[in-house]
Amino acid sequence: MTRKILVLPGDGIGPEITAQAVRVLEACQALGLDVEVEQSLVGGSSYDVHGVPLSEETLAKAKAADAILLGAVGGPKWDTIEDLSKRPEKGLLGLRKELGLFGNLRPAILYPQLAEASTLKPEVVSGLDIMIVRELTGGIYFGQPRGIEERDGQRVGFNTYVYSESEIERIGRVAFEMAQKRNKKLCSVDKANVLEVTILWREVMERLAPEYPDVELSHMYVDNAAMQLVRAPKQFDVVVTGNMFGDILSDAAAMLTGSIGMLPSASLNERGQGMYEPCHGSAPDIAGQNVANPLATILSVAMMLRYSLDEAALAERIEAAVGKVLDEGLRTADIASSGTRQVSTTEMGDAVLAALQ
Ligand code: IPM
Ligand code: MG
Repeated sequence: MTRKILVLPGDGIGPEITAQAVRVLEACQALGLDVEVEQSLVGGSSYDVHGVPLSEETLAKAKAADAILLGAVGGPKWDTIEDLSKRPEKGLLGLRKELGLFGNLRPAILYPQLAEASTLKPEVVSGLDIMIVRELTGGIYFGQPRGIEERDGQRVGFNTYVYSESEIERIGRVAFEMAQKRNKKLCSVDKANVLEVTILWREVMERLAPEYPDVELSHMYVDNAAMQLVRAPKQFDVVVTGNMFGDILSDAAAMLTGSIGMLPSASLNERGQGMYEPCHGSAPDIAGQNVANPLATILSVAMMLRYSLDEAALAERIEAAVGKVLDEGLRTADIASSGTRQVSTTEMGDAVLAALQ
């Protein structure tokens, strides 16, 4: 059965990096992968054409797809749009919400070849392999009521941090199951010393724990977790947390690996349908210069093959190709160091394709 993949390049460096990932997908087609690839607009590029960051057309195509590959959205060009609901980021949040993509997997793996690229000492990060499981469709990013309004003669901004037990439970199960497949350690991150919503979060995690007796559950406050991530990151195996804390901690974890330009992510719903995107953003400062690192997007294709298309062998082949290219000393600007050869976005794509053959 031919499966459908929707590619949403988005804004900034999005089109450049997804172009390289699409070449990798095409190489997989040549190796026998039966998929149909379609493209559509999202984010600022959609706003420019349709006046909205997520059109009905793109949403319908996304719902019909088996998997979605997204580049990145946003940029200064659209930061002045007053109506927040029209900002590029809302295109991304809308896709996550409409498709119910609540389970966000953000691996932070240090490629041994890049130990020198990290800003932390090699001994602190070598062998690093963390999986951050971030709740993606709830919490303060979606809570109601929200807004900016006039109260007692001045403007007041407010958001609501809310989680239901069922929302906590379903992301908890994703995380416990992930821990079972890995080193069986799960750290749940909250702010239960201050926020009721995370007192409930902690309670639900505790309630689930006996169902996963092989997993060792621990809890950590988010401020401490941020510190521990840069102090001794190898203490973590799987981390589970809410939307906002996961957003912040996953950027920090990404940087441990040398560059956020290396990290893929998967966002899954209950049906195993998924959206795959690099963890980094649209990097408008380097857009259009053919210097961005396409590896996070290429590795996102590998995650797509593994989690949505049941093609683990092909996924491993792509990951091995990326490893080979790094072994050969090829680096985009973000991961370059002395003794390596700096290459452009397209040259990196060429090299991965050559390594795949
Ligand atoms: C991410 C991004 C998004 C988020 C933005 C672009 C809305 O930072 O995927 O981490 O906050 O989730
Ligand atoms: Mg983020």
